[in-house]
Amino acid sequence: MSLLEIENLRVNFDTEAGPVEAVRGIGFEVDRERVAIVGESGSGKSVTGRSILRLVRPPGRVTADTLRFDGQDLLTLTERKMRAIRGQRIAMVMQDPKFALNAVMTIGDQMTEGLRRRDGLSRRKATAKAIDMLRAVQIRDGERVMRAYPHEMSGGMGQRVMIAMMLIPDPDLLIADEPTSALDVTVQAEVLAILDDLVKERGMGLIFISHDLRLVSRFCDRVLVMYLGQIVERLDARNLDAAQHPYTRGLLNCLPSIGGDRGPLPVLNREASWAE
Ligand SMILES: Nc1ncnc2c1ncn2[C@@H]1O[C@H](COP(=O)(O)OP(=O)(O)OP(=O)(O)O)[C@@H](O)[C@H]1O
Ligand SMILES: [Mg+2]
Repeated sequence: MSLLEIENLRVNFDTEAGPVEAVRGIGFEVDRERVAIVGESGSGKSVTGRSILRLVRPPGRVTADTLRFDGQDLLTLTERKMRAIRGQRIAMVMQDPKFALNAVMTIGDQMTEGLRRRDGLSRRKATAKAIDMLRAVQIRDGERVMRAYPHEMSGGMGQRVMIAMMLIPDPDLLIADEPTSALDVTVQAEVLAILDDLVKERGMGLIFISHDLRLVSRFCDRVLVMYLGQIVERLDARNLDAAQHPYTRGLLNCLPSIGGDRGPLPVLNREASWAE
């Protein structure tokens, strides 16, 4: 039994412009390993991550033949039990930390809230633990950062704080949605290295969402390539050259490389036949 088991996951949205099939019958498993989901904008990566945590709101509809975490059926779990999993056993670093952090609470209060309320730690112990986590993501002046509000931090700092915050409960699975896309290239590499170490040290499972295939291949084990809501190719990250699918080959050939300029993504040649 894998940590996470997904079969035939589908997510639909009813919009004014008509129905949108954001995810169209995908399946994969994740163990204590690093799995990347790559694909261009709109391919369904974030929606996939959010449906694992049951964060897709109506009128969005999620169905699956299997959606299981550690043997528990996530589709039928009560909301109360789901809350115990969300943020505790499965954590998600959202694409934009600005929306994930509470703007009117200091970083320190946000980081220690759960520790104090849920785990009953004293203020002093909770603060010490939060500062430890900040140190783990290479933030050395933790005391100062704890007093800051989200808007007072740079993008890079915000991403690192998010990662630290998500790791406090020691989750079994971390879903990181473009956790470095807002960062400049040097900080990006730093944050990735930190994430990589933490995953290895803690034996967590990681789902890393990105549109940069080359980037993910450097520190993930497996890569799932998404196109129009489907998984069109599964690759061993060490062997990207084995990619067969023309869409994957397109991603490989025309994505900006690390250190290159980060202009808009080039438009790939596409064919409707790639997705059934
Ligand atoms: N709440 C919603 N209502 C309607 N459509 C939605 C909603 N959320 C997502 N979608 C649609 O679902 C599809 C997949 O979106 P998703 O956010 O998963 O893409 P993505 O692969 O994460 O893209 P990006 O790289 O830009 O983050 C898109 O067509 C998007 O417009
Ligand atoms: Mg996304």
